[in-house]
Parts: sequence; structure tokens; C-alpha cells
Amino acid sequence: MAWKVGAAVAVLVGFVGVGLGGGDVDPRRDGWRAAYRPPAAIPFPPENPYSAAKAELGRRLFFDPILSGDGTRSCATCHVPDLAWGDGRARAATRQQDDMDLRTPTLVNVAWQDGPLGWDGKFRSLEAVAAMPIAAPGNMNLPMPEAVTRLSADPSYAAAFAEAFADPAVTRERLEAALATFERLIVTKPTPFDSWIGGRADAIGAAAQRGFDLFNGRAGCASCHSGWSFTDNSFHDIGVGVGTDIGRGRLKPNSVALTYAFKTPTLREIGKRGPYMHDGSVPTLEAVIDLYDRGGIERPSRSRSIKPLHLSASERADLLAFLATLSSGTGGDLMTVSFANLPPAP
Ligand code: HEC
Ligand code: HEC
Repeated sequence: MAWKVGAAVAVLVGFVGVGLGGGDVDPRRDGWRAAYRPPAAIPFPPENPYSAAKAELGRRLFFDPILSGDGTRSCATCHVPDLAWGDGRARAATRQQDDMDLRTPTLVNVAWQDGPLGWDGKFRSLEAVAAMPIAAPGNMNLPMPEAVTRLSADPSYAAAFAEAFADPAVTRERLEAALATFERLIVTKPTPFDSWIGGRADAIGAAAQRGFDLFNGRAGCASCHSGWSFTDNSFHDIGVGVGTDIGRGRLKPNSVALTYAFKTPTLREIGKRGPYMHDGSVPTLEAVIDLYDRGGIERPSRSRSIKPLHLSASERADLLAFLATLSSGTGGDLMTVSFANLPPAP
């Protein structure tokens, strides 16, 4: 695993534009573009501020199978850096290689998810996520007290906790804080789309630019996939599938709109992250566009923003060309940590 904090440098992908088509620019385009400017810094919560020692400890924990009962799994078993921090499966695999109910979500730009996490919002914060996969018998299968005992017995971990927390005691809260600090560094590299937002008029082609207009205009995608991270951090029923999982509805049983509602995923690196949706039921981006074109399943919970779109063949192609500009190059070690805007180490 070559991936390491500090080893990676953001690289801008060279891209030859094909020139403007002319005549088909939505007059609202410049206003829309302003909403996609990149943030200046990674947000860290006051109760868990950034430090380099904490991030490095979190990196080590993330990739270390010591956090699984039989030493065969780490967080990176499912959140694989080279698979855009997902696992490429429709649904995550249990220890017994059965399918879980849910697809592994990407961790890219998770620092900007300021609402609850998980497809249904079952986790109140990033810190609160880790204990569940670690302790779940079908997943990493290591009760948290045992995780603490194991790490405490390893002198190199005791030293790393001492460096990160000015105290060698290993606690569950510190383990969670370190993992979350590392995860907040999983930031996408600049893409052709970002160059275009930054002012390079030919960084993306004419079809992608028309796709951008559709995304923000008639197709209404940006009402949920909004801003630099392409998510409103909220939950909607877009009419996916006929499964029995009612998503956020289980936690909010009195809300009609939250029945079958799942978290709006980021669209960053989307071309590398199929199959799609919470249950991996939509195999390709073409099939995703078909779903939105049909308007999904009509039911009382379905979002009012979802309705049949009646896209033409060229409009579909334009939307797909636009989505392709949200990925950062091809092959190899695709994700990196941006160090340009980290707060200074305390
Ligand atoms: C078996 C594969 C698997 C392993 C191993 C795993 N995860 Fe996950 N992860 C998932 C799945 C599936 C979900 C969705 C869970 C849900 O929505 O209830 C998820 C959700 C998450 C989320 C929420 C992301 C979001 O956008 O809402 C975070 C953060 C996360 N995992 C971090 C971790 C960490 C840290 C570890 C190691 C301690 C870990 N995961 C281990 C499969 C895995
Ligand atoms: C009402 C809010 C809403 C609108 C409008 C919307 N989306 Fe989504 N989108 C979501 C939600 C919620 C999901 C996840 C649904 C699930 O997992 O069941 C999703 C999933 C996706 C996915 C799959 C992402 C992944 O990681 O699995 C893609 C691609 C996508 N949307 C693109 C679009 C495009 C293109 C449009 C416009 C044609 C659009 N969306 C309009 C809310 C919305």
C-alpha cells in the first residue's frame, strides 16, 4: 500500500478542451458556477481539532487488521483507496462473504458531511461511526473493550497515543477521534470540472457544459446534489427499487417524506464508484440517468423534486459527459490528501 499521509501531492489533470458549442449557454450558468467554488480549508470540529500526530495514528488504525477479531479485516477492507474509498460491490461483504443490506459508501470529502452519517443517518457524527463496524459480529467482530486492551498491550500504539493525546492511555474516545481525524483528510483531487469552475473555459467540453446547465436547470439535480461536494447532506426518496428497507423512515416513523429516504451521496469520483445507490441496485450511470428520466417509483414519500424528465438522447449524453468531469484522472492511486489548507499543528 503506497498510500500514506504526506506522500501524496495534488496533481491537476491536463485536459484538452474541445471548445464551446456556442448558442446553447444557459444565461444562469455564471450564477450557478459560483456555487461550486472549492472550500478554503478542511473543517475540523472544535471538540476534535486537527493534529498531525492524531491523523497519523488514525491512518495507522484505519489500515490495521488489529481492529478485527481474527486479524483479517481493517476499515480499508471495504473503504479501499484505489476503489474511490468504496469496495466496488453492490453490497458490502460480511465476514462469511454474505451480502450486507447496504453498499459501502465512499469516504471522499466526508469532512464536509455536517449532518448525520450512514445511508439512513444512524450515526450522529463521524466520530460515532467506527465502533459499529469494529464491534459488529458480521463485520470486524472485535468488542470495543477488547480493541482497547489489544492496542494498550502494543508498545508502539501506546507511544502513538501518547504523541497524539499527550497521554499514553488508549481509550475508545481517543481511538474514535484519531480515526475521524484521518478520515477528514480524505479529500478529492481537483478535477477538470474544478479547473472550469476556476476559470479555464476549455477545461471541460461543450457537451459537459450543456450537461452542467441541465444538472442545475431543467433536470433539477442540483436541488439535492448541491455545492462543491454535490450533496445537501440530507435524505430523500428518489424512488429507487422495491426493497423493504425504508431507510431514514425507520428512525423517523412519523414522517411520510422520510420513508424510503436515503442520504444524498456526493457525486465526486462518481464514474469509479458503481454499482450505485444504497443497495447497489443500479449498475451503471446510464441506468441512473434512466431512473431519473422515469422519475423512479411513484409513491407518497417520493420527493417532489423527482418527476419524469423526458430527456432526449443528446441530453442524456450531455449529463453523462458532465458527470465524467467530476473524476480525477484514471488508474492507480487516485485519492489524496490536500495539505495546502490544513490548520497548523498545535
Ligand atoms: C464490511 C465492510 C466495511 C468495513 C470493514 C467498514 N465499513 Fe464503513 N461502511 C460500510 C457500510 C456498508 C456502510 C454504510 C452503513 C450504514 O449506512 O448504516 C459504511 C459507512 C461508513 C461511514 C459513513 C459514511 C457516510 O457517508 O455516511 C464511515 C465514516 C465509515 N463507514 C467508516 C469506517 C471505518 C472508520 C471503518 C473501520 C473502523 C469502517 N468504516 C469499516 C462498510 C464497511
Ligand atoms: C430529491 C433529491 C435528488 C435529486 C433531485 C437528484 N438526486 Fe441523485 N440522489 C439522491 C439520493 C437521495 C440518492 C441516493 C438514493 C439511494 O441510495 O437510494 C441519489 C443518488 C444518485 C447517484 C448515485 C450515487 C451513488 O454513490 O450511488 C447519482 C449518480 C445521482 N444521484 C445523480 C443524479 C442526477 C444526474 C440527478 C438529476 C437528473 C439527480 N441525481 C437528482 C438525491 C437526489
